[in-house]
Amino acid sequence: MADFNVTPWDVSGAIDYDKLIMQFGTKKISPALKERIQKSAGELHPMLSRDYFFSHRDMDLALDEHEKGKGFFLYTGRGPSGPMHIGHLVPLVFTKWLQDKFKCNLYIQITDDEKFLVKQGMQWEDTQKYSHENILDIIAAGFDPKRTFIFKDSEYIKNVYPLLLKTARKTTMSTAKAVFGFTDSSNIGLTFYPAYQIVPTFFEKKRCLIPSAIDQDPYWRIQRDIAESLGYFKTAAIHSKFLPPLSGTEGKMSSSAADSAIWLSDDAKAVKNKINKYAFSGGKSSMEEHRKLGGNPDIDVPFQWLKIFFEPSDKKLQKLHDDYKSGALLSGEMKAALIEKINTFLAAHKEKREAAKESIRDFMHEGPLAKRMWEQQF
Ligand code: TRP
Repeated sequence: MADFNVTPWDVSGAIDYDKLIMQFGTKKISPALKERIQKSAGELHPMLSRDYFFSHRDMDLALDEHEKGKGFFLYTGRGPSGPMHIGHLVPLVFTKWLQDKFKCNLYIQITDDEKFLVKQGMQWEDTQKYSHENILDIIAAGFDPKRTFIFKDSEYIKNVYPLLLKTARKTTMSTAKAVFGFTDSSNIGLTFYPAYQIVPTFFEKKRCLIPSAIDQDPYWRIQRDIAESLGYFKTAAIHSKFLPPLSGTEGKMSSSAADSAIWLSDDAKAVKNKINKYAFSGGKSSMEEHRKLGGNPDIDVPFQWLKIFFEPSDKKLQKLHDDYKSGALLSGEMKAALIEKINTFLAAHKEKREAAKESIRDFMHEGPLAKRMWEQQF
């Protein structure tokens, strides 16, 4: 038995990412693949060079299509189960980078149906409220309104129902049980839902590339088994690790443990307090000892967050790392560096989120891609 668990509905334990690649049957992103991405994109995103995006399926084929001029399209999604925290935004920031560099269409699925079915305590009205709130946060990541379609499952269903049925008919209960762990006590709505998460990979007759955390990969496994028999491409995927929770390096930042999350709506004071109070430190217990022996950046959550997301400069990151290890930089100073970065980021995010209220219609109904999608019957 592994001492960690990664499924679409549960991520826990100390995750061994190399083991996960073996378990899931995906591929590690090799130095050669990174070089190819860099060549096509003109630069390498820090989330790639620092191995936060670490695994893939057929990313090389997506690059082939790009080089041949046919291109690929992007697809990702969000389950509106509550307000969003920083961990939710990280893959979206990477997705925006891909869209900018490869100039592709992007489809973002808002799974109000999934969250209603999974969360017994959730009212339908809650899913609708969070869908709206989350969409504003998503738009604030800066996607191109001409090339992005954001849709809510319950609203777009009428355009995709035939394709959804074709997808569902190809998936047996025994596959769904094996892949998602459904049992006799799972509700029947939830056993149908996976077909809907597969449907957007068929939105264009091109290869789809899905940037997301690796817990969503089970869906893509089924997609790849059935896509060609329905006349579509097997999807490609590029997988990220999980943002560690503030309180330690196991599992992922989660909405259910309030102490371990920084919400996109947190103000500067809340950010400062939470990080100072809860952030797991790789520093020594006394200043004297820290100066003498140095800290451990590999388990220091503030350093890890700077590495994954908040410090884009390799040079500055290396200095933080080295100074921490030598003891020149104290744990409180590492925290202060992170607090400043997060607060600058969140201040800008809040402004963009306000502006998103003006453009929500473009992304969902009135932009060129949105219009085309509403006219289309799948
Ligand atoms: N199931 C995802 C969640 O719970 C939402 C989702 C739908 C998604 N489609 C996706 C995530 C595609 C990544 C890629 O959040």
